[in-house]
Amino acid sequence: MNSSAMNGAHILSTGSAVPSICISNEYLSNTISTSDEWISTRTGIKERRLLPKDKSIIDLATEASLSALQKGLIKAENLDLIILATSSQNDLFGSASQLQASLGAKHAVAFDITAACSGFLIGLITASQFIRTGAYKNILVVGADILSRWVNWTDRRTCILFGDAAGAVILQYNQTNDLLNFQLDSNGNDFHQLSIPYTQTQIHKNTVESLYTYPQGGKYNYLTMNGKEVYKFAVSQVPISIEECLKKAELSTDDISWLVLHQANQRILEAVANKLDIPMTKVISNIKYYGNTSAASIPLALDEAFNSGYICNGDIIVIAGFGAGLTWGTTIIKWHAIH
Ligand code: COA
Repeated sequence: MNSSAMNGAHILSTGSAVPSICISNEYLSNTISTSDEWISTRTGIKERRLLPKDKSIIDLATEASLSALQKGLIKAENLDLIILATSSQNDLFGSASQLQASLGAKHAVAFDITAACSGFLIGLITASQFIRTGAYKNILVVGADILSRWVNWTDRRTCILFGDAAGAVILQYNQTNDLLNFQLDSNGNDFHQLSIPYTQTQIHKNTVESLYTYPQGGKYNYLTMNGKEVYKFAVSQVPISIEECLKKAELSTDDISWLVLHQANQRILEAVANKLDIPMTKVISNIKYYGNTSAASIPLALDEAFNSGYICNGDIIVIAGFGAGLTWGTTIIKWHAIH
């Protein structure tokens, strides 16, 4: 289909939710061998939020979604599609349909996207394709993760980085298209640099059947990460992705009003901005308060930026995500407020 003949995709509203339990660096320094000084200077993180035991990812995702629906003045029953980007779903078959039920979005089809910290970005781009072809008109895209349940809280190299949150965006059909372009990449050769690996139970019986019968079971291990390699990957690939996306949209770095990067580490935000010669005044950062909230980080940062009112009509927002997979990508939005 000719791009100019396609429908436009427009961000109608955003929402977010963070749990109330707040864990400071000082608190962690009483439980593991670390310090506020080490964490702050290496990552920019001061605190993170943790979901209490009796709450699920669906509770968090529902709260963020209801906020986006309310701000967009749209009813859940008018949603055509729900995409839940998460890598901490509460069912291996996917959790999006539980979110659909929780919202009462009875006309929506729902599915999950598992792409860790790039999940929301990939979800947003997927949603825009359904809108641009005319298949759907109202889509809820949610990024939600509760990696606090997947990190080893005695491993100081990883546990200090992550927190729990959810963010949501309503993407709607419009005559003008505000998602100007996108760029997505993967490199599965380096998947082991950041992973939550699955280990199968050992089969002890030395029988022919044990060669082909399905293993009895297994378990997921804690999140593992080679911090230095992930850092190098982000700082080298994200600027390239942003530049390629800008080129496709016939824009330059000077046109960028706001840079919304996945909030993994303040030093990564600064290094990417520095490589692209973008002043830090244009870089949105809330990592200090939440740490790395995986798929939730971009929609949470977007929601806070919109709520604070400093994004204006016509602003060019460059959004870039990166993470496990490895996956990374960029999209460019021209912001138009409708309400
Ligand atoms: N507190 C105190 N010391 C710590 C620590 C902590 N929380 N974590 C690690 N250290 C120690 C290490 O054991 C090491 O000590 P040693 O030199 O005696 O062996 C020292 O600090 C340096 O560790 P290193 O891993 O080299 O630190 P770093 O400068 O690479 O910083 C990260 C570590 C994780 C902050 C950094 O690599 C990073 O941010 N990487 C990207 C991670 C990321 O963003 N992942 C998600 C992507 S979606």
